Amino acid sequence: MLLNVNLLSKKFGGNQAVDQVSFSMEEGTIMGLIGPNGSGKTTVLNMLSGILTLDSGSVLLNDREISHLKPSALARLGVMRMFQMTRVFARVSAFDNLIIAGQALGLSFQKSVTKADQLIVELSLEPVKFLDAGQLSGGQKKLLEFGMCFMKSPKLALLDEPFAAVHPQMRETMANFIKARHQEGHSFLLVSHDMPIVQALCQTCVCMNTGKVIASGLTKQVLSNPQVVEAYLGGEHV
Ligand SMILES: Nc1ncnc2c1ncn2[C@@H]1O[C@H](COP(=O)(O)OP(=O)(O)OP(=O)(O)O)[C@@H](O)[C@H]1O
Ligand SMILES: [Mg+2]
Repeated sequence: MLLNVNLLSKKFGGNQAVDQVSFSMEEGTIMGLIGPNGSGKTTVLNMLSGILTLDSGSVLLNDREISHLKPSALARLGVMRMFQMTRVFARVSAFDNLIIAGQALGLSFQKSVTKADQLIVELSLEPVKFLDAGQLSGGQKKLLEFGMCFMKSPKLALLDEPFAAVHPQMRETMANFIKARHQEGHSFLLVSHDMPIVQALCQTCVCMNTGKVIASGLTKQVLSNPQVVEAYLGGEHV
């Protein structure tokens, strides 16, 4: 098993944001993490990527306990995180952002340049290659961040709503990028509110509501689970 999340919990003041969440992921899969707003998805990703400490529970990556590790140590083990709010260096060119990411991940300068050139083409960023990243559109920044995460292909990429507010054409570039990496055997945990994309990309998914896992398994089955439908309707019966 690539990832084993066991009884993960996190409380903010009196708010049990994540409540005994357990799930596991096999190597080479794209797993969806869905649920209504405020259900705890980002908090789970924050714990998996070492940004937040857990109150309790365990996280195993290939049977190794990783829950106490910092983001930099996790990145070295191949766990990379993409944020709901894009993080790029605004006053550095798109191309140089990739080079910086490559070097931070331990690639040589020459390797970083070669890889950055490939990714610029694959992510359709040629027209903005030498523009400051701050001048890129929201979607282009997201694509750039994908590139930064994939300068050295991660074992597991944690994606927090990469498709939100992105132009459909760029959404397709992103989806194709994820599919191509999946074909190469990479694994993704994908938080998204875009159900058609979740259905198209994720073989399996986990649905959370108010901090708890309410359903998990094959995506199609999870999406048609009455508890999941009800959670998205805000608990109202129709
Ligand atoms: N740093 C924080 N401090 C206090 N409360 C927080 C913090 N981060 C999240 N929360 C609370 O924890 C709960 C879960 O939030 P989280 O952001 O994980 O949800 P989410 O599923 O990612 O929602 P969305 O779909 O809107 O992004 C919410 O009630 C939120 O207000
Ligand atoms: Mg979130």
